Amino acid sequence: MRTLGEQPAAPSVVLRSRSLRSAGLIVAVVSALAVSSTACNAQAPAIAPAGNAAMRATGGAVNGSADAVQIARGAYLARAADCAGCHTAAPRVTQPGAKPILSPPFAGGLGMASPFGTIYSSNITPEPHVGIGKYSYDDFAHALRDGVAPGGKRLYPAMPYPSFARIPDDDMHALYDYFMHGVQPVAVAAPETSLPFPFNQRWALLFWDWLFVPHGPFRPEPGRDAQWNRGAYLVQSLGHCGACHTPRGPAYEERGYSETSAVYLTGGTNDHWFAPNLSADPGSGLGRFSAADIAAFLKLGHGGGLIAFGSMVQVVEDSTQYMSDADLAAIAVYLKSLPPRAQSGFFNGDSRAAQQTAQALRTGEVERPGAGIYATYCARCHQPNGAGLAPKYPRLAGNPAVLSASATSLVRLLVEGGGSPHTEAGPEPRKMPPFAGKLDDREIAHVLTFIRNTWGNAAAPVTVRDVSSVRSALHK
Ligand code: HEC
Ligand code: HEC
Ligand code: HEC
Repeated sequence: MRTLGEQPAAPSVVLRSRSLRSAGLIVAVVSALAVSSTACNAQAPAIAPAGNAAMRATGGAVNGSADAVQIARGAYLARAADCAGCHTAAPRVTQPGAKPILSPPFAGGLGMASPFGTIYSSNITPEPHVGIGKYSYDDFAHALRDGVAPGGKRLYPAMPYPSFARIPDDDMHALYDYFMHGVQPVAVAAPETSLPFPFNQRWALLFWDWLFVPHGPFRPEPGRDAQWNRGAYLVQSLGHCGACHTPRGPAYEERGYSETSAVYLTGGTNDHWFAPNLSADPGSGLGRFSAADIAAFLKLGHGGGLIAFGSMVQVVEDSTQYMSDADLAAIAVYLKSLPPRAQSGFFNGDSRAAQQTAQALRTGEVERPGAGIYATYCARCHQPNGAGLAPKYPRLAGNPAVLSASATSLVRLLVEGGGSPHTEAGPEPRKMPPFAGKLDDREIAHVLTFIRNTWGNAAAPVTVRDVSSVRSALHK
């Protein structure tokens, strides 16, 4: 595979006219236009494996310009970019109890909720009337990099084009060849997105783009090696990790698209999931986890005693589990190179207090509010010492997601329950039960405050208000 270190240098990327950010009205309108790009399909069916595409290609169904190797490469890149996660509708349940029917890959129609209405993803199969079959290569590259579809239609940033803006030409060609020749056309139109005025004025997104999106291809850092640069490209561009892990500004723009920004990947909330700090912060970041732990987490959904949950489950299931070991190692190397930023939470697993709590939970001498709830409802899986039971149940002691500045994900997980990812190579999935009917807001606040402050964990307490505001937003 191509190493990014060999790419020719491109002109420097400039973030345009920051001063215009103070133009309040524009910001208000565009912030309303900008919606979460993250509420994706929980169960996107697997896309056709690259092998099928390759077979179709060699079977002669393909025009001469795209060979099987190129199509397979495009299929791989589409997985790394998780195009299927957003462009494949959720499976349909026709009657209660019946097996859900999988939706055709890439035919669009997945609804993404915004406060102004639902935005539907487009049909991106090579069907000429309702899909992208008539797209030229330039149309495709323009849509992915600039967020502008043929006819000048500006795309809502629910499509993460600010990240895809950095895809270089050779990868863009492989993606195009895959979508034109390796994907089955589907002649079913995706539902129209119709937001109320003024959010239906797509042209106004021009201003949002102009203010916030740094256009220009990925530029390798000359002082870094090829592995680091490969990881940086995968994280910043194809993987669009920042869409969830970077905090957003007032107009819902990601506050930084590379490590040159001090807030890049320091944690963000989308769709009531907080995606944690991926910098080297030793409390709520990845500082205490090795590159091998991170690569395993992305491949299997399990690494260093942590298990992917919330919106990260789909990312692992649809995208990262399919990435090559070399690419996952590159991502881990890049993430491990991020300096500690936005520090919050602490962990000291050797402390005497940590051992005493575990002992007290074992013998039932529990006094702190929350400890009794933990002993009754949680300890059988997560264990009295919070170490979990690998590979079934995650550790809570020293778990960065437990120590995060925001407890939003913890509340949502407790209320709704969860399930560890299904992957080809990983352990059998396990469920965490929902506690919405069992624990009230006060009890949830107590047990979360407890797990954030025991076994050597130290993080801000969770208030009853924190819990009730997440629960009311979730209507649960
Ligand atoms: C996080 C979700 C998300 C991901 C990931 C994503 N898209 Fe999209 N995409 C969307 C949404 C939503 C729209 C519709 C936006 C609108 O209507 O303004 C869209 C629109 C498009 C369009 C415009 C089609 C048209 O004419 O309306 C193309 C082309 C496209 N996506 C291709 C891709 C490709 C290729 C990938 C992977 C490299 C990808 N998308 C990944 C959400 C996503
Ligand atoms: C759709 C939103 C979303 C996207 C996109 C996303 N993540 Fe996540 N990620 C999350 C959430 C939410 C969590 C917290 C739950 C957990 O720990 O699994 C998380 C957790 C993680 C963790 C574990 C961190 C910890 O402290 O527990 C790692 C590592 C990670 N993500 C890496 C990545 C990488 C690398 C990418 C891009 C390839 C990525 N994520 C893309 C939402 C996302
Ligand atoms: C039946 C076993 C079981 C019980 C009981 C249980 N959990 Fe879990 N827990 C899990 C599993 C499995 C996961 C992984 C979920 C996922 O991947 O979506 C998990 C994940 C978590 C996480 C996220 C950590 C991570 O890295 O994935 C937290 C925090 C958590 N549980 C807290 C609790 C608390 C607090 C209780 C008690 C109120 C509890 N759990 C009860 C099985 C359990």
